[in-house]
Amino acid sequence: MWFMRQAGRYMAEYRAVRQHHSLVEICKKPALAAEVTITAAERLGVDAAIIFADLLLPLEVMGLPFHFAAGEGPVIEKPLREAADVNALRTDRAGELGYVAEAIRHVVKHFGEALPVIGFCGAPFTLASYMIEGGSSRSYINSKRLMYRQPLVWDELMVKLVAVLAEYSIEQVGAGVDVIQVFDSWVGCLSVEDYRSYVLPHVSKLVQKLQGTGAPIIYFGTETATLLPHMKETGAEVIGVDWRVPLDQAWKSLSFAGAVQGNLDPALLFADQKLLRERAYDVLDRAGGRPGHIFNLGHGILPGTPVENVLALVDFVKEYAGRHVAVGKTP
Ligand code: CP3
Repeated sequence: MWFMRQAGRYMAEYRAVRQHHSLVEICKKPALAAEVTITAAERLGVDAAIIFADLLLPLEVMGLPFHFAAGEGPVIEKPLREAADVNALRTDRAGELGYVAEAIRHVVKHFGEALPVIGFCGAPFTLASYMIEGGSSRSYINSKRLMYRQPLVWDELMVKLVAVLAEYSIEQVGAGVDVIQVFDSWVGCLSVEDYRSYVLPHVSKLVQKLQGTGAPIIYFGTETATLLPHMKETGAEVIGVDWRVPLDQAWKSLSFAGAVQGNLDPALLFADQKLLRERAYDVLDRAGGRPGHIFNLGHGILPGTPVENVLALVDFVKEYAGRHVAVGKTP
């Protein structure tokens, strides 16, 4: 069990650090990024630490600077619009993201064998959508226009992203992470056909390259109910599932092959603890004691989430596991 965005604004310790440093500053100061990572994992008592970084960091070394505007989310200063912009993207500066590997080395040293550490990167589609839309989007129309009208330019963009993301993530494994999560947060905006034509070959290549390190891969997206079996074709060992699809149904759509991660609605952390517990138990019941379920939320912890409910959720999951071991249900 671990939670996406387990270090974030809902936690007072994180807000205290943020008073003195911007998000990107925290990412670029390895001792600080390590401290934020460690504090969250230890405070919650989860089974893994996820390195504190941001999905968008590779954009900067590819030549697309960005910043976070208050209340608006990320803003890419000069979004990609045409072939020349894609041609100009750099793929030779992934090494400049070495501050993330440095932070990982601090965390790995701190935990030793006691706790696994998760590294991560964005998936090529989700990062391309930020590069092209210039930030968050509702319809992804600029991305889809490029995909449909200039498929060769789209391919060039995917190939460049895979090159940078592979080098960046392989360095994270070198620094000691035990697993890599690939976040394809917005891939659910695609039809199955478009996913298969424009995205699957590229994510598959990324997954293969990362598996060359021996680290298992968690491949996560949201609104992916129809895409799950296709996502599995990437070869990722674990498929991350959001809350819109019941976990047993999701796993069945994968023929119960491999592991799954998920999938409690993060908004349930705003419910009372009775309902929270019921719904957490429901997710665990749906996992059915099969080996290979990583308990997580269906997406990241939201700002304003009561910390005591996150702590209670950790207890509920441990309590459930304890009971089922006691009656011999868990393999
Ligand atoms: O999970 C963790 O604890 C590790 C830290 C982490 C962050 N970003 C730190 C962060 C991780 C795994 C990410 C990934 C990330 N970043 C994703 C994929 C995950 C997902 O939610 O699907 C995406 C899409 C981004 C890009 C991004 N960064 C967005 C859309 C935002 C929100 C902007 C806002 O103001 O709401 C961020 C900011 C961000 N990254 C925060 C944190 C803790 C919160 C803002 C802050 O501290 O200022």
